[in-house]
Amino acid sequence: MFKNQVVVITGASGGIGRGLAEMFVAEGAKVAISDLSKPEMVASEIGAAAFKCDVSDEASVKAFISDVESDLGPIDIYVSNAGVGSGNGKYVAGGSNESWELAWQVNVMGSVYAARELMPRWVERKSGRFVITASAAGLLNQIGSASYSCTKHAAVSLAESIAIEHADDGIKSHCICPQYVRSNMTKGMPMAEGSQDGLLEPKDVANALKAAIEADEFFVFPHPVVKSYFINRAMHPDAYLSGMRKLKAKVGQAFGKKG
Ligand SMILES: NC(=O)c1ccc[n+]([C@@H]2O[C@H](COP(=O)([O-])OP(=O)(O)OC[C@H]3O[C@@H](n4cnc5c(N)ncnc54)[C@H](O)[C@@H]3O)[C@@H](O)[C@H]2O)c1
Repeated sequence: MFKNQVVVITGASGGIGRGLAEMFVAEGAKVAISDLSKPEMVASEIGAAAFKCDVSDEASVKAFISDVESDLGPIDIYVSNAGVGSGNGKYVAGGSNESWELAWQVNVMGSVYAARELMPRWVERKSGRFVITASAAGLLNQIGSASYSCTKHAAVSLAESIAIEHADDGIKSHCICPQYVRSNMTKGMPMAEGSQDGLLEPKDVANALKAAIEADEFFVFPHPVVKSYFINRAMHPDAYLSGMRKLKAKVGQAFGKKG
């Protein structure tokens, strides 16, 4: 279904990004992967092209998109996957301003910069597909990281805005909302390794994205149970909060580096 399509994936030197890239390559797409440093080794292992792109820097995102289009042709699918997370510290707003700003820049503005560059081209061409790797934390909450939760909620909202504002221009948008997946981000994180809903592999996320694109569904739920949690949050917000408090008591607050 993606044969010869030009697919871009940011933050793809490992983890979910690499899993997504492998799926698109297997489907016959022309895949460009990028990360903070050029992921040449991964690219050669999986049969993709490697680029360097710091998604928190608008000029870098613009140059990346332009370089991919000159090397591979017009971009059909852009997967904004790069992400960062850091912990609260002792109090909920305890992370440093720098850690909040970095989360905002990478988890939100990285997608804004790419969408700003691509939408005019895609509107003109009447096609394009923008995918954001948000998180279940973008619909629910990440215990131990308010900056991750807030910015992932914003990422979900941006994906929704694209789906609403540009559907009539022939542009599709999808929002990937996994719970824990094996990657550098979750390595050594007890909450992930002991998760009651399971620690998925990156290929599970890739298969879920493929299925959602085939079914023309906006939300991608690699852990299907997240959909029911999301419904429960909307229908019974106090019961949802009570459940999250119980989970916090059970798992503690270990999330990423202290912010
Ligand atoms: N692993 C999980 O449990 C999980 C769950 C839900 C959502 N996510 C999201 O999935 C995405 C991929 O994360 P992952 O789990 O594969 O972890 P990961 O750490 O392996 O991948 C994140 C990648 O983003 C890159 N990155 C960070 N800052 C960047 C920047 N400024 N510019 C470009 N690249 C940058 C990192 O170098 C890294 O390769 C992230 O957006 C993450 O928030 C992960």
